[in-house]
Amino acid sequence: MLASKAQIRLKSARDLEALRRSCRLAAETLLLAGDRLRVGMTTLEIDELVHGFIVDHGAYPSPLNYHGFPKSVCTSVNEVVCHGIPSRRRLRDGDIINIDVTCKLDGFHGDTSATFFVGTPSAEARHLVEVTRRCLEIGIEQVRPGRRIGEIGRVIEAYAVAQGCSVVRDFVGHGIGRDFHEGPQVPHFGDAGRGARMEPGMTFTIEPMINLGTWELEILEDGWTAVTKDRRLSAQFEHTLAVTETGCEVLTARSRPLRHSEPTDEPPARPATDPVSG
Ligand code: MF3
Ligand code: CO
Ligand code: CO
Repeated sequence: MLASKAQIRLKSARDLEALRRSCRLAAETLLLAGDRLRVGMTTLEIDELVHGFIVDHGAYPSPLNYHGFPKSVCTSVNEVVCHGIPSRRRLRDGDIINIDVTCKLDGFHGDTSATFFVGTPSAEARHLVEVTRRCLEIGIEQVRPGRRIGEIGRVIEAYAVAQGCSVVRDFVGHGIGRDFHEGPQVPHFGDAGRGARMEPGMTFTIEPMINLGTWELEILEDGWTAVTKDRRLSAQFEHTLAVTETGCEVLTARSRPLRHSEPTDEPPARPATDPVSG
């Protein structure tokens, strides 16, 4: 996130209905992007795909013109931590790419991202992406009324560091609703005792950015692209959530696994004469 309006706005049941719809569209857009991802495509082609799908569904791609961001989606390749600008750069075999989709439908924003494998990943890329996916999952497991926001960052940081990775500190999760970025801020590091207590009706993202090397980053000349200082790989996953009476609802949950990112149910291809399967 960027500078956020600090206020935490609790959502009504009606607000939540609208948020669910925008979040469902964001999730479907991300599924589509995963389906279409190919070695050799440009990140501009991803932008066109995402833009078209969102607009065709009566929504607006929130990044477009947001504080001057020039495109409709963020595409962050390899050492790019976040806010990568779609361009004529072609994806190469072995790249990883985070695609961060945000759309505004009926006045509410839905925000979700994932890191995908382009072609065949290296062992270290696979490790980083699996650790990052798990960081988001364990962060989500902390969400319930009465807990402090700080619990989320505490478990994420502990796990990432135990896996030999580092947690980005310059960007955090954020409240979301009628504004793209609202309160609270949701750090992916730090002390459990910090931050607001979670309450039913709060809606925010968890979006850990996890690096193989240093957590430190630099912003490129374009004023947007954040890269790791050591140019080693960075990955990110993001969901938009609502705190419920009993726990948490993942508003950007997907109807199926993401292609080129998540393990799928599809059985691995086997030769016809495989003696095990007959
Ligand atoms: N989607 C990003 C987030 O998760 C924000 C992108 S801001 C943009 O908070 F301007 F770069 F699009
Ligand atoms: Co976000
Ligand atoms: Co996002």
